[in-house]
Amino acid sequence: MIRTLSYAALSGTLLLSVNASAKDTTTQQYIDTLTELGYPAPKGNELVHIPPTMEDLESAKLHPELKRVIRRGYDLFTNTQQLRGENVFNNMNCSSCHLGEGRMPFSAPVWPAAVTLPNFRGKNDHVNNLEERIAGCFTYSMNGKPPEYGSDNMLAISAYHQWLAKGVAMYPEKPIYGRGFPAPDRPEELSYARGEAAFEEKCSVCHGNDGEGLRVGNETVFPATWGDMSNNWGAGIVRIFTAAGFIKNNMPLGQPNSLSDQESWDIAYYMSNQERPQDPRYTGDVAETLKNTEARFHKHSMYGQTRETDGHVLGDHSNTGEKPFLKPDSIRSRTFE
Ligand code: HEC
Ligand code: HEC
Repeated sequence: MIRTLSYAALSGTLLLSVNASAKDTTTQQYIDTLTELGYPAPKGNELVHIPPTMEDLESAKLHPELKRVIRRGYDLFTNTQQLRGENVFNNMNCSSCHLGEGRMPFSAPVWPAAVTLPNFRGKNDHVNNLEERIAGCFTYSMNGKPPEYGSDNMLAISAYHQWLAKGVAMYPEKPIYGRGFPAPDRPEELSYARGEAAFEEKCSVCHGNDGEGLRVGNETVFPATWGDMSNNWGAGIVRIFTAAGFIKNNMPLGQPNSLSDQESWDIAYYMSNQERPQDPRYTGDVAETLKNTEARFHKHSMYGQTRETDGHVLGDHSNTGEKPFLKPDSIRSRTFE
């Protein structure tokens, strides 16, 4: 299978070079590798952290039972499909968006959550802890339902996040180098036609012409970029600037920073004009849902807007994909009254 072969060839060089065992890599070597790949060097005051690898875990001075739990968390993070039908209802693994097993800078490395939470989060208007942040990606990015708070799986995934943050002080005052999916500057004008052409030329070889990706048996080889097997409309990557940042910094796989800013934004705009499962915050009416979420979220996406090519109103449906419910009970407000 040609698509499988090309993935193996491309992913090798990039991930190997950035994922060298933390204890054998100096900060300068780490930064040099990243700048050679086209990423910016850290600004003077930024916090640079090299997350430890699973190899480092084996030699760490931790209780063997804790190591077992962290290994389980790693396994769930990189093969989240084992929770399919229970917590996950699309083709994603956590590592489909958080590349390098959640360690890669500029690919929303996940360890910052372990040292910056609990904190207030605008998306749900209250103070969240690490579990609730993880639950957010289950609810929207995995089009699913988070494992119970305090359950074995939730503990294991949290432990993996905290292991990756090993050695970083809580509530760091410096900004974190490579956090999130930093977006390039937004160009003056975005084009659906240019985005479509670029997607076909540079992305469809892996993600398919209809963004369906590639699944072999129970394994996702290439995740779906839209459609039922992708994230739902409430996921962070639905925001055009977040998608543009993800694409510029990470895609095509193995060739980060190879697209122009214009191409990255055009493709992100084209992707935001395709359908996906309904936002769990849906009230039954797309215009009303847009109104409720616009100020902080959907003003950055095409949700509730009319597609220029055929007049379709994006998100105007009650399709939840493979998931047999709209909103998991675990999404709740917290008031501290
Ligand atoms: C479809 C893409 C996608 C998938 C799949 C995904 N995430 Fe995320 N995740 C995001 C985006 C987008 C953000 C927000 C990045 C930003 O701040 O710009 C994020 C942020 C996070 C953060 C916060 C990082 C920080 O800097 O504080 C954590 C923790 C996290 N995700 C964990 C997970 C876990 C655990 C899973 C699997 C259950 C998962 N994610 C699956 C896209 C995804
Ligand atoms: C060589 C194969 C390959 C090419 C080409 C490629 N990708 Fe990907 N892409 C992947 C893989 C594999 C992942 C998941 C990462 C993982 O599991 O390690 C991914 C993840 C993604 C994701 C996050 C998950 C999802 O499905 O939404 C997006 C968005 C994405 N790619 C967009 C693009 C775009 C846009 C292009 C073209 C500029 C592109 N990709 C080119 C292989 C590829």
